[in-house]
Amino acid sequence: MSKRNNKILIAYFSRRGMNYLNGKVVNLQVGNTEVIAKKIQMITGGDLFEIRTAADYPSDYMETTRIARNELRTNARPVLAEYIEDIENYSVIYLGYPNWWGTFPMAVRTFLEFANFKGKTIIPFCTHEGGGFGHSETDIRKLCPDSILLPGIAIQGGSAATADNRLQEWLIKSNS
Ligand SMILES: Cc1cc2nc3c(=O)[nH]c(=O)nc-3n(C[C@H](O)[C@H](O)[C@H](O)COP(=O)(O)O)c2cc1C
Repeated sequence: MSKRNNKILIAYFSRRGMNYLNGKVVNLQVGNTEVIAKKIQMITGGDLFEIRTAADYPSDYMETTRIARNELRTNARPVLAEYIEDIENYSVIYLGYPNWWGTFPMAVRTFLEFANFKGKTIIPFCTHEGGGFGHSETDIRKLCPDSILLPGIAIQGGSAATADNRLQEWLIKSNS
């Protein structure tokens, strides 16, 4: 494989604003998943891509949960603000998202359906408030049957800032 298509991508969805952190509603300036994505970027030296919807979700937590549940129920594909155009340059994709209603936000579906992940290695990471990965790994497998899915890491949102050691250990394992 040439160097050109051997790069690491860290693609993530994360929402700033009011969110639960250790059981309390707080205003997050940087989303939990974004905190983890940037740590993975620092360790691996990969490229970052934020999966961002064209329409922002509200800052209000309850309002966001209502919209997200509706998107899940209607199998929506939220329009993204930007689409990845050079996926062929990457062989390994760290895919990050919060657990929303037991799986990844529907915008991640839009992302996974837009590009061709055939033959690529996908390594998921997720932040959550107790539900871990939910069924998101099964959902990735269904959407990307021709990709190699490696064991991911699920981190409680409130532990994102202090997850460095866990991340290091996991990254060493996932690269060996
Ligand atoms: C719409 C919505 C739905 C959520 N559903 C779940 C859930 O089903 N299980 C869970 O453990 N946490 C759930 N959470 C909590 C988030 O997964 C958690 O706060 C996460 O760290 C947020 O990441 P972010 O700051 O990167 O967006 C939900 C949060 C939102 C906003």
